[in-house]
Amino acid sequence: MAIFEKNNIFVIETQNLHYVLGVLDNGMLQHIHFGDKCNVDDYEVMPFSEENSTISPLDSLKTEYSTFGSAIFRETAFKATFADGCRDTRLIFDSSENIGNTLYIKLKDQHYPLVIKLKYECFESNDMISKSVIISNEGADDIIIEKMYSAEITMPSKNVYSSVNSNGCWGNEFEMQTTPVNCGELVYESRKGYSGHTNLPCFALSENISEDNGKVYFGLLQYSGNFKVLINRDSNNTTRAFIGINDFDFKYALKCDESFETPTVFCSVADGFTQMSNRINDFSLEYIFPENFRTKPLPVLYNSWESTEFDISIENQTKLAEIASKMGVEYFVMDDGWFGKRNSDRAGLGDWFVNKEKFPNGLKPLIDKVNSLGMQFGIWVEPEMVNADSDLFREHPDWAYHFDNRNGSELRNQLVLNVTRQDVKDYLFNCLDELLSENNIRYVKWDMNRPYSEVGGENLDCPQSVWYYHIMSVYDIVDRLKKKHPDIQFESCASGGGRCDLGAISHFDEVWTSDNTDPVDRLYIQNGYSLFYPRKAMRAWVTNSNDGSRRVALDYRFAVSMQGVLSIGSNLLKYTDEEVETCKKYIELYKRYRNVIQFGDLFRLADLMNNPYCITEYLDKEKKQGIVFICRGTDSLFKNNYAVVKMKGLEKDRNYCIDTGNKKILKSGAYFMNKGIDFKLYGACKSAIWIVTTE
Ligand code: GLA
Repeated sequence: MAIFEKNNIFVIETQNLHYVLGVLDNGMLQHIHFGDKCNVDDYEVMPFSEENSTISPLDSLKTEYSTFGSAIFRETAFKATFADGCRDTRLIFDSSENIGNTLYIKLKDQHYPLVIKLKYECFESNDMISKSVIISNEGADDIIIEKMYSAEITMPSKNVYSSVNSNGCWGNEFEMQTTPVNCGELVYESRKGYSGHTNLPCFALSENISEDNGKVYFGLLQYSGNFKVLINRDSNNTTRAFIGINDFDFKYALKCDESFETPTVFCSVADGFTQMSNRINDFSLEYIFPENFRTKPLPVLYNSWESTEFDISIENQTKLAEIASKMGVEYFVMDDGWFGKRNSDRAGLGDWFVNKEKFPNGLKPLIDKVNSLGMQFGIWVEPEMVNADSDLFREHPDWAYHFDNRNGSELRNQLVLNVTRQDVKDYLFNCLDELLSENNIRYVKWDMNRPYSEVGGENLDCPQSVWYYHIMSVYDIVDRLKKKHPDIQFESCASGGGRCDLGAISHFDEVWTSDNTDPVDRLYIQNGYSLFYPRKAMRAWVTNSNDGSRRVALDYRFAVSMQGVLSIGSNLLKYTDEEVETCKKYIELYKRYRNVIQFGDLFRLADLMNNPYCITEYLDKEKKQGIVFICRGTDSLFKNNYAVVKMKGLEKDRNYCIDTGNKKILKSGAYFMNKGIDFKLYGACKSAIWIVTTE
């Protein structure tokens, strides 16, 4: 049984965990436990009384879903204003309902016709629980919601928790930072309209954690819009995490008989970061990725952006495609520059029609050529954007977000379309549908290159819900296109990894992780990415873009990019025959092991933050096949040549063969894990790939 109730105590049970809440005598909900299982009969609620006049019982209570109202002075999960101006919400338990693996706890306001259902879904074998909140207005007047987090999670201990999140930026996404929360509040958020490059819509809290040990409480929000994660430690030393839609510049007018469901948070408690990451990966493969390609290994693709930028022609794309196909590339993707008057980033966005000067007979001749070379064809689009210098903007200047008496602020020479308008949505859907219906396109890179400003939203009853409706419109267009064109893969890109979150991964099949393709930088980026997000989605290109600043061997570039979904972005026109052969060799190797990399377990044996080497091990679920990537950083030429690789996750009594390229070592799993292999790699930026098989 996954969910059960006794004396108004509700227990959500997964394979190893309990999530427990209970109803107090006064009808309020109390959070009781989230962690390893206990004896169910031992759970009880713990009423709180007034400590002194400055700390109310509500401040101390482990609330399950706190509301602004009554004597509560700390952060709360919910705030609303009723029609008569009352800004005070008081929720009382009404009833509960179990439907399959989902528990609904129904709460009602003491006076107003506001109903809040807390929804918990239990994913038993994954040890994951999802939480969302359904808010309903059962009265005649609007209720204005100003804040509605998806979840509030209270930590069990009074000790100081450390919070892990990213403090990245463009080109340096997923820069992991660990911050102890001693007192006050720590906020991670986005106010840009999309999840962004800086903070992640996730939380991970622990008292003392390593890859293998220590409890980590984590949650991931399935949402790509403005989010807020707030971690607070109060004067009673209670640490709480709040996660959901950002209340910044946000309001939602809940009309008569209307309901609103917040985005979902997927939560769990893991033993160490390795278990956390592998749990997220497995769970995403089972429940998060769009179904069409969920169980299929993703292809090796070539993207022509770094080779030709806007200067594309049938001739240069054909030449690139010919070389890519020789290497074994499966998808050829033509990036920006194929539409409108798009010869630079100053014009064309919005005009999603083939540029007749570059492609006088449409895209078909190029696509046919790519297909005849044995590859599928992919294309770049940036539908949410418009250049002022475009036919679309000249015809519909009001389609861009605006305030009537303000100039629109351009970034990268572009403005953002108000995709919450039905006519804008229809235009974009129809343009893309036509493009995909008329051409044999199998891959769409959906880009989005600037934060939103002057977000007027004059078409909406409540303009401050525009941030929410924008991302819902994006999801809707993508979902409808995917439904109509089920063989097409969609990639989420936003100036690199700016829209890379569990929401995006629920609608797109993969994500572009970063515009920074320098392989050493990428090791840091990929390490941070892999903590929270599934590597099945992580597109990683081999390029030569940073040759001028950091020359690195092609072998090294492959050892880095093979750790995700391998792709090539180099200017192949400059490659020697020998380099083409090298690419071919690695692409072949990747194809043999991509199932292990995309679907197996990951063990981060060493990272560059703390070691001179980055060492990652990927192991299939049967623990029979694996691949190890060893990449040395940019440290001293005379130190750190020696290291030891201690494997993880192997069967200790099984015999394995590790092929290091120079020799094959035959030993037991126990030996490889406990004793390890001594090895040397001379010099900075050297790499090795080891293959693990069973005898
Ligand atoms: C963004 C993307 C790049 C590329 C360019 C094209 O910067 O992140 O990969 O597609 O746009 O303009």
